[in-house]
Amino acid sequence: MSSPDVESLPLDELDVITAARYGTRGYPHAEWARLRRESPVHRFAPPGYEPFWAITKHADVVSISKRPDRFRSAGRFILLPELDLVAEGQSLAENPPLRMLVNMDPPEHRDYRRLISAWFTPRAVRRLEARLDEITCEVFDELGAGGPEFEVDFVRDVAARQPLRMITEMLGIPREDEDFVLRVTNENFGLEDPEFRREGETRDERLGFLREAAEYLQRLLADRRARPRDDLTTVLAHARLNGGPVPPFELFSLFFLVMVAGHDTTRNAISGGLLALLDHPGEFERLRRDPGLVSRAADEIVRFTSPVIHFVRTAVEDCEIRGQRIRAGDSLALFYPSANRDEEVFEDPFSFRVDREPNPHLGFGIGEHFCLGASLARLDLQVFFRHLARRVEHVELAGPVDRLHASFVGGPKRIPVRGRIRPA
Ligand code: HEM
Repeated sequence: MSSPDVESLPLDELDVITAARYGTRGYPHAEWARLRRESPVHRFAPPGYEPFWAITKHADVVSISKRPDRFRSAGRFILLPELDLVAEGQSLAENPPLRMLVNMDPPEHRDYRRLISAWFTPRAVRRLEARLDEITCEVFDELGAGGPEFEVDFVRDVAARQPLRMITEMLGIPREDEDFVLRVTNENFGLEDPEFRREGETRDERLGFLREAAEYLQRLLADRRARPRDDLTTVLAHARLNGGPVPPFELFSLFFLVMVAGHDTTRNAISGGLLALLDHPGEFERLRRDPGLVSRAADEIVRFTSPVIHFVRTAVEDCEIRGQRIRAGDSLALFYPSANRDEEVFEDPFSFRVDREPNPHLGFGIGEHFCLGASLARLDLQVFFRHLARRVEHVELAGPVDRLHASFVGGPKRIPVRGRIRPA
């Protein structure tokens, strides 16, 4: 699991953050394991980045996430190599291109979350199951459209489709615009990926996809104000905050967050879940034999793949964590995949078990910002893998897997597969 250089390098030289590392070698699990053992609260200052503390233990991610009064989300909320932008006062922290739930704090955060939370409760999500079942059936029908044998890119042609269709339907985005949503999402999470990154001189040029998405939303909102429907965009179009209208920038930010967070992470969990099952054929077999395991399997997939790699908190006041002096204003990066492999919490954390129980993973975060879409994501995954286990008789890799160059939300970018599928 760990390579010799990870064990012998000075801790400060471990790379847990560059996008290129994630793209070429995957998640730095060996590095995180060493940090958990030797320096679970470790200060890094890699070239190009403002310094940050890497938080790698489960208990610390929990206690920090549960104290938004002491560790705020506003300001720097993800790590990017933006020292040059900091010098120009253009960093994401000082000049955020969006004000979303993930970079807001209470009480404001709660007011905004309440605008849409009714759509994501376990009960509201259960009502979507029948539709989700149909969508998933369509996705597998498309896979089998050319006959029982298939050869496809599993990420693009299969994993991306179901969560994308579900969230766009909830938002009332027409099907013909799905590819637009997918492209904007890829550009957002692929900010540092050579394949998706927008080139540009200025920060605003590089974030040009936000302008496109904002223009798109304007048209959609105007339509729903004139012709309300039963969708989430109509809710946003008529939302009121403390008796007044919701400011346009915050309204767009909320819409954008739901639109992109509502499918990309789930897609990564589905893709990573397939890889985990291929790597553990015995577990795949157990799931096929006993589809009742799918609910535990979905959580184990989220734990094992941890599509959200980190979020950042800023210390509000000086404090001490595991003997390290943290100063007010310091950044703390919560590394969820590391917390999810913490030997003190999970038995045999590196093994993938479709029936793992208990499974107190932090793949959806915890506390104030606990994933609003967790119930939806769980249902997406459960329905998806139920269909996969039933219909896909055989599946194997047909080429090398490509990974996204990203250290914020990550996962496989391309998984060439071939296999055989049964009719519905
Ligand atoms: C497997 C899929 C998913 C994973 C791993 C995931 C992970 C996360 C994590 C770790 C956070 C916590 C952020 C923090 O503590 O700062 C979060 C927040 C959030 N997620 Fe998810 N998510 C997933 C699916 C979804 C879906 C389907 C939606 C649908 C709308 C969604 C919407 C959100 C929103 C709106 C927040 C912000 C909550 C807040 O700040 O109050 N997520 N997610």
